[in-house]
Amino acid sequence: MPTESSLNFVGTATWEALSGKPVQVGVFDNVDQVAHVRIGQSADLVLVAPATANVLAKAAHGLADDLLTNTLLTARCPVMFAPAMHTEMWENHATQANVETLRSRGCIVLEPAVGRLTGVDTGKGRLPAPAEIYAAAINVLEGRERDLAGRHVVVSAGGTREYLDPVRYLGNRSSGRQGFALAEAAVARGARVTVVAANVSLARPAGVDVVDVVSTEKLRQQMHLAAVDADAVVMAAAPADFRPTEFVDAKIKKTADGVAPQIHLVENPDILVELVAARTSRSPVIVGFAAETGDAHATVIEHARAKLARKGCDLLVVNDVSAGKVFGREDNEAVLLGADGTLEQFPLGSKSALSHLIWDAVVQRLD
Ligand code: CTP
Repeated sequence: MPTESSLNFVGTATWEALSGKPVQVGVFDNVDQVAHVRIGQSADLVLVAPATANVLAKAAHGLADDLLTNTLLTARCPVMFAPAMHTEMWENHATQANVETLRSRGCIVLEPAVGRLTGVDTGKGRLPAPAEIYAAAINVLEGRERDLAGRHVVVSAGGTREYLDPVRYLGNRSSGRQGFALAEAAVARGARVTVVAANVSLARPAGVDVVDVVSTEKLRQQMHLAAVDADAVVMAAAPADFRPTEFVDAKIKKTADGVAPQIHLVENPDILVELVAARTSRSPVIVGFAAETGDAHATVIEHARAKLARKGCDLLVVNDVSAGKVFGREDNEAVLLGADGTLEQFPLGSKSALSHLIWDAVVQRLD
């Protein structure tokens, strides 16, 4: 339902052509269908995007002079606003009071993004990215709370590379999918999210601060920086356990006698262990990942319990990688071990579903 003013930006013909549905703006069009009551009553979610300062004001005061504002009054479902306006209008006391009023009544008002606005200025007030609005809408429909609002969470993703020479490196198969899914889920739950991404070639999740790194040492530095004010840290990345003792500036050549070069390795620091050691009291909540296989000595869970104790983190997400599972796949199945002795079995599901289960466990342990 466009408002009259919004048709100055995108006109009726465009809406009708793209949606294949007639566009109605006023209360007195097609009165026989009583649209001003029916639409609100039958909706599962009403999303106003972009929500102008004017619409927020009308909604806060219960004004109903067009189809949209009538619908807002008749809706019995969740109502969500994605504001877009100039910084001055957003910060104006009147707008802030209206936002307060709407939130106090249970409406969801997303924070506007920071960036280029209409005209040459930049600042807070930009419409949140469509993917972010969509994720927030899905969460509302799934009954998800914004239980990470006001929190800063830091996630590492991908696999580090340790270069031998300018063209060759030691690496691993981690795609970064689980780390990015965790970031997306945290954004949808209202968190400020920093992802330290090691060689991830996936599309950047909306609303996330992504810091790109290549080597384990750089991942380590960036994780320590980001963790300073974090409420939760998740080490979903696969840092290389070893790096060559030296980096050769020029490409290593084959020799005439066919003798292969020896590569000497040194162990990398364990970032997870360092983050646990660096934290003050119980904050942040720290989550590790473990890829395990059972063997003659112990089961997957026994190995994982020992690893949890060694690492000292609060939670360990355990993947059984025996049969080439997990790497690069869209879905994931895991067991979550808590330092408090808990064990939760997560069924096979999308990496997004697993992410939400991990955040559920983190939220329980915050504060
Ligand atoms: N990790 C880390 N720094 C490293 C290596 C791993 O922070 N240098 C983190 C990973 O991000 C992950 C967890 O530690 O959260 C995995 O532990 P790790 O000991 O690397 O597991 P495996 O590779 O399975 O190790 P192992 O061969 O000892 O079983």
